[in-house]
Amino acid sequence: MRIDIISAAPELLQGPFSASIVARALKANLAEIHIHDLREYGLGNYRQIDDYQFGGGAGMVLMAEPLDQLLTELHDNRIYDDVIYLTPDGEAWNQASANRQSLQKNLILICGHYKGIDQRIRDLWVTKEVSVGDYVLSGGEIAACILADSIIRLIPGVLNNATSALEDSFQNKLLAPPVYTRPSNFKGLEVPKVLLSGNFKEIEKWRDQKSMEITKNRRPDLLEED
Ligand code: 6GU
Repeated sequence: MRIDIISAAPELLQGPFSASIVARALKANLAEIHIHDLREYGLGNYRQIDDYQFGGGAGMVLMAEPLDQLLTELHDNRIYDDVIYLTPDGEAWNQASANRQSLQKNLILICGHYKGIDQRIRDLWVTKEVSVGDYVLSGGEIAACILADSIIRLIPGVLNNATSALEDSFQNKLLAPPVYTRPSNFKGLEVPKVLLSGNFKEIEKWRDQKSMEITKNRRPDLLEED
């Protein structure tokens, strides 16, 4: 799996890929992330990448030419399964989307900034538009990190316990049950007895029951038929 990320603020993309599970996956060559600084494709001596919008209105728009040049260069080198534009007006990202994308080979993520990107780039290049929730971020970079992280952790071999991705919240449309570790008594709070019993059938039953209870309380929408 190769992910190319196009950004006008590439500094924002460093942290999330440089530690923990994703960093290990990159090091083990289970995934590749290539970050492209849009500024390097900017126009003129000032490497201009944004301009005022036609028709007036506040906020700058990422220009078509720098994005088009970079996208052309990438497509000259390989075939991409999807070109995803991160935008608050995109389709909602969820676990099913991550599962689907984790089966792909080559993806491009375009991070918008300011007012967004010139519509013609969306018309010419973008195959999917994705939002990570109903709130506004300053740019698409944090959203791109969310997509890359949620996809990469699903690639076979990335998680050392093969079952642990399957037991995540949402993987079975239920929220995860509570977890405990030592000590069994902390500030007078006891770990539920069943978890210490060694009876795996009962433990599984307790976890399923807790999952259902928590999902009913917090996210009843997850239990509706779709
Ligand atoms: Cl993908 N981008 C931005 N800028 N804001 C968002 C978003 C994306 N998803 C939710 N809010």
